[in-house]
Amino acid sequence: AKIPVTVLVTGAAGQIGDAIVPMIARGIMLGPDQPVILHLLDIEQAAESLHGIRMELTDAALPLLKGVVATTDIVEACKDVNIAVMLGGSPRKEITLRKHMLSTNVSIYKAQALALEEHAAADCKVLVVANPANTNALILKQFAPSIPKKNITCLTRLDHNRALGQIAERLKIHVSDIKNVIIWGNHSTTQYPDVNHVTFTTRNGERPIREHVADNHWLKTEFITTMQQRGVAIIKARKASSAFSAATAACDHIRDWVFGTPKGTWVSMGVYSNGSYGIPPGLIYSFPVKCEKGKWSIVQGLKIDEFSRAMMDATAKELIEEESLAKSCLE
Ligand code: NAI
Repeated sequence: AKIPVTVLVTGAAGQIGDAIVPMIARGIMLGPDQPVILHLLDIEQAAESLHGIRMELTDAALPLLKGVVATTDIVEACKDVNIAVMLGGSPRKEITLRKHMLSTNVSIYKAQALALEEHAAADCKVLVVANPANTNALILKQFAPSIPKKNITCLTRLDHNRALGQIAERLKIHVSDIKNVIIWGNHSTTQYPDVNHVTFTTRNGERPIREHVADNHWLKTEFITTMQQRGVAIIKARKASSAFSAATAACDHIRDWVFGTPKGTWVSMGVYSNGSYGIPPGLIYSFPVKCEKGKWSIVQGLKIDEFSRAMMDATAKELIEEESLAKSCLE
């Protein structure tokens, strides 16, 4: 029998937590033959709902679930964790000032970094979902120096999947026949969804998407704005922010990281920059990555046109500003 993997979910009593906990417990993240132990963390005010989730997990009689720790104690939550999915944070709706949101969340990520540094497994893989996702991950990297920096990532897979969905709908093809979109940069409105390298499957092999889109203009205008405003559109329709699609994307991110990306395919992940494509080293920036044997690497050698260059630099600039704002909040 396989040794169980311990997965931490912070902010587990929240919306995305509600959606992702059953996915993990049923093998969507790590596969149908991988036993898991769940560590669920939330704050004192959410202790009751956390208890409720724990009761439901018991009632679901799940064969893969070998243990549950539901706690408001950060140290207990981080103990021997192999994978950490960080959803916990103050929701944007209650905090209107960006600086206030940033300062609240970066101090949470500093504290959680210190706990992970001390108590998590040495090769723990971390996925930060909570906003500002890239900058929270950057702070986490700074305050958990013994966790390899390649193990600290943030979620841009939701944006990646959204782009595939938009293209599929527009071209009336199935989403599984399209690949290699790229989300560059920050998980924010400055993100750049790049379709220059997208291909789709035809009877005659892989063809560039641009050959199939009569309306190239759409890709440079409406497509990009739809992408940038999709989060807001979901809130308007659902009266709540995306939960199921965010949970799905987080499972996709971890699954591909652990098991690898299919040959010839890449995905978008927020990872620390090594200077590839002229992005300042050390930023947590979304790149196209391939994964193999539990490790990601940035796809090299893609041609970048002038339009892309400007978009990639603009989102990097925003991340640099966020970083200095975050650091000033921690002083
Ligand atoms: P939510 O507000 O429903 O849940 C957040 C949970 O975190 C709450 O249960 C809250 O009590 C808990 N929490 C607050 N402080 C905490 C702390 N110090 N330790 C542990 N838990 C704490 O929010 P939702 O909808 O589940 O979203 C979670 C985060 O993910 C938000 O920051 C949201 O902006 C972000 N998000 C990111 C996406 C991405 O693609 N990167 C997509 C969708 C959401």
